[in-house]
Amino acid sequence: MDKFVVRGGNPLVGTVRISGAKNAALPAMAAALLTEEPVILENVPQVRDIETERKLLAAMGAEVELGYGRAQHRTTICCRNLENPVASYDLVKTMRASTLVLGPLLARMKHARVSLPGGCAIGARPIDLHLKGLERLGAHISQEHGYIEARTERLRGARVVFERITVTGTEDLMMAAALAEGESVLENCAREPEVADLAALLNKMGARIEGAGTHTIRVRGVDQLHGARHRIIPDRIEAGTFIVAGALTGGDLLVSGCDPHHLGALLQKLEECGVQVQTGPESVRIIGDGPLLAADVLTEEYPGFPTDMQAQFVALATQAEGTSVVTENIFENRFMHAQELVRMGANIKIEGTRAVVRGKTALSGAAVLASDLRASASLVLAALVADGETIIDRVYHIDRGYERIEEKLRGVGAQIRRIGELLPRRVATPLAAG
Ligand code: EPZ
Repeated sequence: MDKFVVRGGNPLVGTVRISGAKNAALPAMAAALLTEEPVILENVPQVRDIETERKLLAAMGAEVELGYGRAQHRTTICCRNLENPVASYDLVKTMRASTLVLGPLLARMKHARVSLPGGCAIGARPIDLHLKGLERLGAHISQEHGYIEARTERLRGARVVFERITVTGTEDLMMAAALAEGESVLENCAREPEVADLAALLNKMGARIEGAGTHTIRVRGVDQLHGARHRIIPDRIEAGTFIVAGALTGGDLLVSGCDPHHLGALLQKLEECGVQVQTGPESVRIIGDGPLLAADVLTEEYPGFPTDMQAQFVALATQAEGTSVVTENIFENRFMHAQELVRMGANIKIEGTRAVVRGKTALSGAAVLASDLRASASLVLAALVADGETIIDRVYHIDRGYERIEEKLRGVGAQIRRIGELLPRRVATPLAAG
């Protein structure tokens, strides 16, 4: 299994360019299931989860072409011949977002068989709200042998009020309602930028969706959708991770190709920590000169402080003067990084849903274990300021959602290298897709 070897101490200086958003590209790829015509996605990040989604769609009979060379961030998906509307356990267990195929498959094929995702490192993460919503649109849902069986003659528009805000739940229902008969009103929806980006793609495909990005989304169903070309939004969590890296290492870092509007809560919190932040139309400059100050954080749904930045913020708080209380409100088990940071010398106490971080403490390099995507990012950040060498094991977690993070970090002065083989860069002549 791949490892990262990081030698701490270098401030990050220079420019790092952000890739497209994993959490926008995944639902966009699933949306291609809604039409027979090709959907072309630009700015798709080259990360393992995209590769898993490609396999998932290909197993159903879709033609999925991942671009090469200059087009390596372009993906063309054609779902004309979907013989096998099944999302197998083997793939779903590696990526929960696979369940996003349920709504589109049901809406277009009138039948879907999707494995239940099972447990996850950061929490139980059930999909009951997806299922309840689809039942309100008239789906017949049963469960057997670990799989959801969903059937319908045709989905019918309905009012769906989510009991709690769910990002992929909102996306799943929005896609299902796009081909339903009549109008659906979805309430208490997620307002994440990735939801609005999916609605933008669906409307380009001929859907009639209003209100995405707010708590109430209206979808007037249509009989069929057509192909489209769409550019995926930048990854605000990748951008946030580099922004925190710049602040933590006391560097002068320009994070380019991002959307500062999507980073409001994080940037405001960093200013509270004494970090200088300058924003441009598509960039954020971080000047980390001077001591970091402690600050409390509550993770919330968008536009609140993102749970996907919680672990990275905990790493920063270990180097801030004073006590920071970080409260995780979204997932019930998302402090796996804390004990690994304590192994490096951090002072962190977990009290239920709160991490009490006392800083500043000197961190020293150690062998640590990544447990999930964002926890592994937090360990990389801590290693950048630790004394000596840190060896991070199981970095396949980080490859799921960060495109070439070690190359991007080296590009701005970090001492980091990978032990093991890298996800192959698509530069050579294309292999048979699908
Ligand atoms: C999305 O997951 C993201 N994944 C997650 O990013 C992110 O952490 C999360 O939203 C919250 O922002 C993708 O977009 C692919 P939720 P999702 O449904 O949709 C509970 C990353 O690091 N819930 O909004 O699965 C659930 O257990 C990943 O890139 C139910 O109870 O999250 C959680 O406590 C990790 N029943 C809360 O709601 C349901 O049916 C919010 O989950 C659905 C959710």
